[in-house]
Amino acid sequence: MSFENLRKEASTLLANDKASIEARLTELCELLKAEVDYYTWVGFYFKNGDKNELKLGPFAGEPTDHTIIPFGKGICGQVAVSNKNFVVPDVSAQDNYIACSIHVKAEIVVPLFKNGENIGQIDIDSNVPDPFTEEDERFLEFVNEKVAEIL
Ligand code: SME
Repeated sequence: MSFENLRKEASTLLANDKASIEARLTELCELLKAEVDYYTWVGFYFKNGDKNELKLGPFAGEPTDHTIIPFGKGICGQVAVSNKNFVVPDVSAQDNYIACSIHVKAEIVVPLFKNGENIGQIDIDSNVPDPFTEEDERFLEFVNEKVAEIL
């Protein structure tokens, strides 16, 4: 499915207020994983209360041991403090990286803002080397804006 169609599907799915937020976010992760062939694992991390750490939220793909990530650690923890997208074409070239699976080759993390505050992020792993482009960044920024509207 094209990113244009996926934007529509994601918006429709998130607007369904008969389902819980948790259920909508899980469905969203499943949609993205199913429809973008190089998205191997799709999940959300959110700031854990007032602690300087991230907690795993809804996801699609293999379960991960990394359910809590301190700010500053790994790609996710770095985005929690930088407030910027982090595109990693080759995870083996990163020193500050938390491996979830030996098959993962690349990762993209895009922060999620609510009222200007960085409250979490969408994290995508790929088993394909260097697959992410600016199109993914724009698409995932859009997705996060839509998610922020229902939080
Ligand atoms: N690789 C991430 C950890 C989360 S897993 O990809 C699900 C990181 O370095 O922060």
